[in-house]
Amino acid sequence: MPQLSVQFFQKTDEDPPCIREADLKRPEDCSGNARDRDMESQESVNKCERVPLQKSNVCSRSYFIVVMVFFHVYIINVIALLLYVHYNNGSEAEFPGSSQGFTGSGDTHRSVPKGHTRAPTQHFLPRLEGLRVGHVQKLSLVSDKVHEMRTLSLKPLLFEIPDFLSEEECRVVLQLAQLKGLMESQVMVLEGQDDLTEQLNLSPEEIFSLLDLNQDGQLQPQEILTHSRVRDGIWLTPENLREIYAGLNADPDGNGLLSLEEFRHLSSDAFQRFLQQRGVKRSQLVRNSRHTWLYQGPGSHHILQDLRKRVTRLTKLPSALVELSEPLQVVHYEQGGHYHAHYDSGPIYPETVCTHTRLASNSSSPFETSCRYITVLFYLNSVEGGGETTFPVADNRTYEEVVDASPACLFFKDFHRCTAELSVALCLCQSLIQNNVDLLDTRKNCDKGNLRVKPTRGKAVFWYNYLSDGRGWVGELDEYSLHGGCVVASGTKWVANNWINVDPDYQRQAHYQEMVSQKHQAEDSPEPRPMQHSDAHIDL
Ligand code: OGA
Ligand code: CA
Ligand code: FE2
Repeated sequence: MPQLSVQFFQKTDEDPPCIREADLKRPEDCSGNARDRDMESQESVNKCERVPLQKSNVCSRSYFIVVMVFFHVYIINVIALLLYVHYNNGSEAEFPGSSQGFTGSGDTHRSVPKGHTRAPTQHFLPRLEGLRVGHVQKLSLVSDKVHEMRTLSLKPLLFEIPDFLSEEECRVVLQLAQLKGLMESQVMVLEGQDDLTEQLNLSPEEIFSLLDLNQDGQLQPQEILTHSRVRDGIWLTPENLREIYAGLNADPDGNGLLSLEEFRHLSSDAFQRFLQQRGVKRSQLVRNSRHTWLYQGPGSHHILQDLRKRVTRLTKLPSALVELSEPLQVVHYEQGGHYHAHYDSGPIYPETVCTHTRLASNSSSPFETSCRYITVLFYLNSVEGGGETTFPVADNRTYEEVVDASPACLFFKDFHRCTAELSVALCLCQSLIQNNVDLLDTRKNCDKGNLRVKPTRGKAVFWYNYLSDGRGWVGELDEYSLHGGCVVASGTKWVANNWINVDPDYQRQAHYQEMVSQKHQAEDSPEPRPMQHSDAHIDL
C-alpha cells in the first residue's frame, strides 16, 4: 500500500496541525522519530499494521516543531511571570546591611550579603488591608490567644485591637516608666527666642512678610495663632489674641487684622513679654503631659521585648525595621491633660531629612522631621472620663474642601515657600476651622471630630502616617492621620507609643541600615541599635 505512507504524512490545508493519535499508539518497533519515518521502508510499513488515518490527523514535522517551540516559550513565560510576581510582591522585604538579615515579617532572619543593595522600586513594605470600616480580622500574635483587629477608618488606615496587652503587661510597662521617671513633654520657652531675629538682623518688614503666610499684606488672627503654636508651643485661642491686642493696643482700628503700619509700632518681642507677664498655664500649651522612653532590645524587661515582637507580627514589617525604630514612649496625662491635634510625622519635601537617618544622610539641610511610617498606640489604663484619641478628619469626604478653604492651610501644597523660608512645621495645616470650630483644639472640640477611640486598658490602635508611593515603599504624609488626645475629664491616662521609623527615601534608609550594621559588627553587640536613640535615652 504505497499510497498509505504518503498519505500518512501529508498535510492538507484544511486540517490543523496535530500529533497523530495513531502514531502514539504504535507498537514499540514502530516508535522511530519523525525523521526516521520519512525513511521508513515499505517493509516496515507493512510490518506495523497502521490504522488508516483520516485527513484531520495528518501532521507535518515542521508543524510539530513549531508547536513544541511555542509550547516551551509559553511555559518559560509563565515561569518568568511567576518568579517576577514572587520577587516583587512577596511579603518579604530585603534590606541591606544587617547581620540578622532584613527579611520580611516576624522573627525569621535571613542573612543578606554585606553591601547588597537593590533598586528602591524592588522593595516592598507590607501594608495591611483595611477592606472596609467595621471589618474584623482574626490574628494569631501570641500562642494562647486569638486577637481581633477591627478597621476603624480607611483614611487614615486605622485599626483597633482590644486586649492587645494583658493586664499584667500594662501594669509592668506603667511601673517601669514610673521607675525610670517622666519628664515634661513640653517646656515653655519664651525667653531667648529673639536672639535669632537679632542674629539674622531682620527688619520689621521682613518679619512681617514671614508671618504673612498668604501674602495679602495683613496679619490675620490665624497667622498669629499659627506662629504662636509652632514657634512657642502656646495654644492661643482667637479670644486670647483679642485680649493681647487690647492689652498692647496693637490694633487701633479694631478690624482684627494687623497692618504693616500697626505691626511696626510693636516691638519684636511685644507678644512674648505680654505672655510672660500674664503667665501661661499648662493647659494653654500644645500638649500637657509627661513622658519617658523605654528601651526594648536585648537585656530589657522580657515584657518589653515580647511587646516589640508582637508589634512586628502585627505590622508584618521586617523585624530589623522595628528593632531600629524609636524606643517605647510612655505618656502620662493627669486630669486636665491633653494633646492638641497633630501629625506624628512631618511632610516630606526634597530637602527634608528624617531624624532617624540624619546621621547617614550626609546632609546639612535645616529641615528635619520624624519619619514614622506607623504609630502603634497602647492604652495602659482605662480612663474614667474623657481622654479619647481623636481623629478629627478621619474618613471625611469634605475634608479636602476644608483644607483648600482654610486660610491657615494655604501652604500645604506650596512647598517652595515651605522649604525656602518657613520651617517645615509651618507648612502643615496648623488650624482646621469649620463653622468657627477649630477642630485641632482637643480641649474644646473633641466631640466635633469624626472619630474618637475610647481609652480602654490593653487596647492597641495603630495607623499609617504615610500613604504608599504606589510601588511598595513609603509615599506622602497622609493628611488624614491628624489626631490628638482629648482632655482628660476625670482620672488620669497612661498610653505608650511604638513608632516604626522608615525613611521615604529608600536609598537613605538602606544606607542608614548599612551604617548601623557596620557599627554593630565592629562592636560585637547582641543586636544592631538605632544610632539616634541609643545615646539619647538611658536604658533601664
Ligand atoms: C501622641 C498622641 C494620643 C493620645 O502621643 O503622639 O497622639 O490619645 N497621643 O494620647
Ligand atoms: Ca495675611
Ligand atoms: Fe500623636
